[in-house]
Amino acid sequence: MFACPNCSLALDVTEIGALCPNRHSFDRGRGGYLNLLVGGRLPSDAVPGDTGESLAARRRFLTAGNFLPIANALSAATAGAPGPVLDVGCGEGWYLTQVEGDRYGLDVSKTAVQMAAKAHHDMMFVVGNAYRLPVLAGSVGVVMSVFAPHPFDEFARVLRPDGWWVTVTPGPLHLQEMKPDLSDRERVGERMKRRSEPPVEARSSTHVRYALQLTKQSAADLYAMTPLRFQKDAGPQGLGEVTVDVWVSSSRA
Ligand SMILES: C[S@@+](CC[C@H](N)C(=O)[O-])C[C@H]1O[C@@H](n2cnc3c(N)ncnc32)[C@H](O)[C@@H]1O
Ligand SMILES: [Zn+2]
Repeated sequence: MFACPNCSLALDVTEIGALCPNRHSFDRGRGGYLNLLVGGRLPSDAVPGDTGESLAARRRFLTAGNFLPIANALSAATAGAPGPVLDVGCGEGWYLTQVEGDRYGLDVSKTAVQMAAKAHHDMMFVVGNAYRLPVLAGSVGVVMSVFAPHPFDEFARVLRPDGWWVTVTPGPLHLQEMKPDLSDRERVGERMKRRSEPPVEARSSTHVRYALQLTKQSAADLYAMTPLRFQKDAGPQGLGEVTVDVWVSSSRA
């Protein structure tokens, strides 16, 4: 299913690496991941949450079950799909553990992919770009994207004719308690409006909304795993409850 990021021909993936017919070759890193990102790494400030600490916080927060209702909706939306499953922007890999099938994760962050590969030996992880997936046309059963980029034209290219995509995107009230900067009313209004509907490309959508009680640890982890733009004046102190509000959408009718 993987394609050479240089020439787009099919990659022959083996235990030690991958090779295309034009002899572009890629080694496996520790944990078995493949680096299929061409043109080098994106600057680290282009990749929010891309530090060891924020990824560790994300893993602690997710494995504690705080977003389990999201995972359950995701798992329902992917049930019965043809394989394989590709998680685009997979981060440290937790959401893939919540779905069935032959599982692959892709992320532009090498740190995230290394962490995912180290923990999940029954899946395969690659470093790559969501906007130019190193994946053959018509080869994937389900593409999922959880709080991550979702270029639908690229998803359509890699999906099998009987496959579908599933996205998780924020709803209007998602983590609203963490956003102290409400001064720019216009921007806040715009964001609320944009998030009040699921992506227009979706054919079906589920709204998952609940109040999440936080422990001290999960409040700290939530701050550590959330991009800096939410953290202007606030911190985890005093944050006892947050609203989780997301759309789980799919291109399946
Ligand atoms: C908010 S995190 C979500 C991670 C994971 N899905 C989760 O929910 O725990 C967004 C992820 O998208 C990845 N990402 C951002 N731009 C990307 C791109 N162009 N291609 C692939 N992944 C990208 C980031 O590295 C990051 O891991
Ligand atoms: Zn090649």
